[in-house]
Amino acid sequence: MNESSIIASYNGKSLPLTEVFAPVLDRAFMFSDAVYEVLRVYKGKPFLLSAHTTRLQASLRSMRIAANQDFGDAILNNIAENQVKEGMVYLQISRGVAPRNHSFFAMELKPSILIYTKPFLEHPAAKEQQTGIKGITHEDYRWGRCDIKTTNLLANCLIQTHANEMGAQEAILIRNGVVSEGTSSNVFIVKNGIFITPPKSTFILAGTRRQFLIDGLLAAGHSVIERQVEKTELFNADEIFISSTVKEVTSVVQLDQKPVGKGIVGPFAKLAQALLDDAILAMK
Ligand code: PDD
Repeated sequence: MNESSIIASYNGKSLPLTEVFAPVLDRAFMFSDAVYEVLRVYKGKPFLLSAHTTRLQASLRSMRIAANQDFGDAILNNIAENQVKEGMVYLQISRGVAPRNHSFFAMELKPSILIYTKPFLEHPAAKEQQTGIKGITHEDYRWGRCDIKTTNLLANCLIQTHANEMGAQEAILIRNGVVSEGTSSNVFIVKNGIFITPPKSTFILAGTRRQFLIDGLLAAGHSVIERQVEKTELFNADEIFISSTVKEVTSVVQLDQKPVGKGIVGPFAKLAQALLDDAILAMK
């Protein structure tokens, strides 16, 4: 896939993604002072659009970035412009361009808005969903507002890279002995048929797929508990899986080089993925 064939929308103008150049004084460049969303496109339509735009508004509010629009239409327009059937939308809103200064006190800034839609030639998680992935546990040394979806992802990038160096695909982050989330995903464990996932807090991003799965599993009569998960519970779990927009439901079959449960993709992860598959199939 050649990124130059992707049409981006940058501050309302359409141009090839590779021809978008942001000013170096954009606070996204200087301070990672920006929020973002990643949406999945199936059948030419964004999945869980309102969950994403609602979370985006919450991130903007928490960051005190004033961008007075919903972004739903802008997302739909960019998908249509790129004629993408299967893919993902990336949307980023920075606080804007200003002389470098930590404080943005009394600054009247115009947010910079980037949207682009990338086609997927194949399902990005298909192989990992079939085989499951290897995970490691890692100290969660990120800041205390992981509930805000900011582009300040350096800790996530460092830890994910370390996981790759260890031959794993994802790291499960541990803060003070309890599980928070993955570097770019939420975490579920299954024990005795019960789905357990850490509760919403400032230490995790409230994933759109996490909420979709909790609601769907409960509606289908399964037991789901949102509570703290001790690191030690990971090693006694029957199954562990991660959830995200891109990875959907992907099983962690090995953790810190030990098999999780039977060490294969388990029936509960498959059941959770089936909920997503059904909803995607039902999209009109
Ligand atoms: N990441 N936690 C973190 C830290 C994440 O970065 C993500 C998603 C999630 C899952 O959220 P959702 O279910 O809404 O995708 C949880 C996206 C996909 C990314 O950064 O590319």
